[in-house]
Amino acid sequence: MKVVRFTLNGDPVEVGVRDSETLVQTLRERFGLTGTKQGCDLGDCGACTVLFDGEPVLSCLVPAADAEGHTVLTIEGLSNGEVLHPLQKAFLDEGAVQCGYCTPGMVLTAKSLLDGNPEPTEHEIRHALSGNLCRCTGYSKIVGAVQRAAGAMKGGEG
Ligand code: FES
Ligand code: FES
Repeated sequence: MKVVRFTLNGDPVEVGVRDSETLVQTLRERFGLTGTKQGCDLGDCGACTVLFDGEPVLSCLVPAADAEGHTVLTIEGLSNGEVLHPLQKAFLDEGAVQCGYCTPGMVLTAKSLLDGNPEPTEHEIRHALSGNLCRCTGYSKIVGAVQRAAGAMKGGEG
């Protein structure tokens, strides 16, 4: 076991992890943050995406020990209390959530995109989300949700 200290959803945390443990395992099993999904566990699906110092990473590929001194944001840390982030609201309003398995990773990847590019084109949105697979929606509603959220955030809701 190794003790790792990092910032998780805005709070400093300290946790013991196994040498072989991945960040998705730590988040789900030690912190109970099951919004981060463990899909393929191979780096292929994007379901495990979290933001690591603001950048999307596949937490099934990140050794938990690598979080030392860094900042991790999961879907549980995105809302402001009961108030949904504009991206979460837009995904619901656009009907972009079906089974929901891909949704946390999609939303966090989209957050990273909009943080750096508040007015992305459809092509830029599709490119940014290309590593996040969805078996349900056909992607159009997801792209529409990101566009809707961008508009809302530009209008001051974000
Ligand atoms: S679970 Fe990490 S990419 Fe699929
Ligand atoms: S909503 Fe089911 S995988 Fe995307």
